[in-house]
Amino acid sequence: MKPVKVGLLGLGTVGTGVVRIVEGNQEDLSSQVGSPILIERIAVNNSNKPRDIEVDPAKITTDPWEVIRDPEIDVIVEVMGGIDGTKEYILEALDRGKHVVTANKDLMALHGSEILAKAQEKQCDVFYEASVAGGIPIIRTLIEGFSSDKIMKIIGIVNGTTNYILTKMSQEGASYNDVLKEAQDLGYAEADPTSDVEGLDAARKMAILGTLGFRTNVELHDVSVSGISEVSKADIAFAKRLGYEIKLLGIAERQDEEFSISVQPTLIRTSHPLASVNGVFNAVYVYGEAVGETMFYGAGAGAMPTATSIVADLVAIIKNLKLGVNGLKQKVPYKQKKLKSDED
Ligand code: HSE
Repeated sequence: MKPVKVGLLGLGTVGTGVVRIVEGNQEDLSSQVGSPILIERIAVNNSNKPRDIEVDPAKITTDPWEVIRDPEIDVIVEVMGGIDGTKEYILEALDRGKHVVTANKDLMALHGSEILAKAQEKQCDVFYEASVAGGIPIIRTLIEGFSSDKIMKIIGIVNGTTNYILTKMSQEGASYNDVLKEAQDLGYAEADPTSDVEGLDAARKMAILGTLGFRTNVELHDVSVSGISEVSKADIAFAKRLGYEIKLLGIAERQDEEFSISVQPTLIRTSHPLASVNGVFNAVYVYGEAVGETMFYGAGAGAMPTATSIVADLVAIIKNLKLGVNGLKQKVPYKQKKLKSDED
């Protein structure tokens, strides 16, 4: 059995999780796909950085192009983050016929249609399950699980950092700044936490969910955004007295053939299942015309939950490779449909 060779771009928290799962579950993974999966090359920022996993130094490079251009590599797993440079790496990998797994919600929200169009042209797969809600398989659920239904509403708690902050403020009366610092130390927050607390991270994820759920092309500017930096302990205490929690909710709604998408701190009755989604956990509530109410819950950030989705994408790509098919599930860049914001 010829091994499938993987090039990993990035060996931070999530990249380390990917190595742990691929190596730790190798026997089971290779029996699922019918060949060993080898992480052959790894591009890092700093090759001298101490790491808590052992990696053969011969695999490491500080030049991502070396990994992209290596003819031996079948699949690129991108967990380095960033937008413009990273887009070039991914487009070049696709040009060279390599399949791609990415956890990069910023990139997929901003340039997803261009990347998916290139993948389609090159008959390659680009899978990005880990880009939204970490370990919850919500992307394949929207694409495959609900392909038969008309999705009417998606409500998401899709940012772990802000949910962690709001939970601690609500349950412990903790101050916004102290909890933000804690979330950063735990590795949940983005490098610049402004995108978490001001709602941009959630908006990018909702643009991806809206695109898939409504089978249209939602752009980031279609999402109206406000974050949690203005939410005070007093607001939360007052809401609680009235029987509500305050959550940063992404709300995507279909009305007839129009769509609206927003991210904002929202009062939610304590009896609603989303109100008891606490800490770094995420949840996505999906209402379909035929299926009715469904809800998906799990860890939205952190190394191992995120790596679970990434390695599942890798497995799906390798299965496709074996079957000689590609991109059947996630290839089509949708056409732009009418959004309510078009009228504003
Ligand atoms: N900063 C993000 C969050 C990480 O807190 O949800 C996962 O996308």
